[in-house]
Amino acid sequence: MSSDTTAPPSRATTLARARAAGGTKPGAATPASPRLPSRPAVGTKRGKLIAVASGKGGVGKTFFSITLSQALALRKQKTLLFDGDLGLANIDIQLGLMPQYDLGSVITGKLSLNQAAMKYDTGGFDVIAGRSGSGSLANIPLSRLQIMGEDLALLATRYDRVVLDLGAGVEKSVRQLAKAADTILVVTSDEPTSLTDAYAFIKITALERPNTDIRIVVNASNSTREGERTYQTLHKACNGFLKISPPLAGIIRRDARVRECIRNQMPILTRSPSSEAAMDVEAIADRLLAP
Ligand SMILES: Nc1ncnc2c1ncn2[C@@H]1O[C@H](COP(=O)(O)OP(=O)(O)OP(=O)(O)O)[C@@H](O)[C@H]1O
Ligand SMILES: [Mg+2]
Repeated sequence: MSSDTTAPPSRATTLARARAAGGTKPGAATPASPRLPSRPAVGTKRGKLIAVASGKGGVGKTFFSITLSQALALRKQKTLLFDGDLGLANIDIQLGLMPQYDLGSVITGKLSLNQAAMKYDTGGFDVIAGRSGSGSLANIPLSRLQIMGEDLALLATRYDRVVLDLGAGVEKSVRQLAKAADTILVVTSDEPTSLTDAYAFIKITALERPNTDIRIVVNASNSTREGERTYQTLHKACNGFLKISPPLAGIIRRDARVRECIRNQMPILTRSPSSEAAMDVEAIADRLLAP
């Protein structure tokens, strides 16, 4: 971050967003689990419910969330991937799924959250799809989002790990959903706007919930060394202005295979498991699971 971008940014950023892929095709999604019988006390451990946030849009949250979910599943973690992008959900599009149920049915009360979970056999994890293409959920009241977050934390007791792909921005709706998480991975690229918006997200989160476990992921980096410099820049701003020291979760290198996999609606760990980006996400999964 240059000197002017290290100043704490105050604006919330709303960004124009583009759909990653065009149509959908039938995927290997089947209903996952029956209704939960009751509401037990929720107690999550660090790193169990992992939210993926960014501030700026288009930095790779959804790609990373999908790949992290598959990497965790490959490590024998029963994993749920939750599409928490209330504006433009697109996990189903990146994976080529045509989900029978989505969050829209949950919001309208037709289904409970766990009934909306589908098995995604190719990736070995479950998915709760957002409302993709059939309208936005961005205007849900915060009180409803709070209940959804609580239900998600409850559902998390059935899984080893839950990955929550958040929408871009720092609006209240994004933050409300992020509250369900016990670890937040903030994704940034080396672009100044991405760094500034990641900083804005970290700042608001740290002020609202001082003890949140926030870690940084640098995505689409030209090299590991450049990614480390990007992390240091953001870390310096956090340390200097906020007096917090978010650790580096990992660096994902820029890799043409990412785009190719999204275009083909296939997860990178299935289509190109030995690509640099795939291996970098696997390393992040290993670090998350390390005791
Ligand atoms: N490591 C990478 N290497 C190369 N390209 C990447 C990488 N990560 C992401 N991309 C590109 O960035 C695009 C956006 O990724 P993605 O949809 O995952 O971002 P996002 O943060 O979820 O966006 P949004 O804020 O709109 O939800 C992808 O279509 C892909 O082409
Ligand atoms: Mg996304």
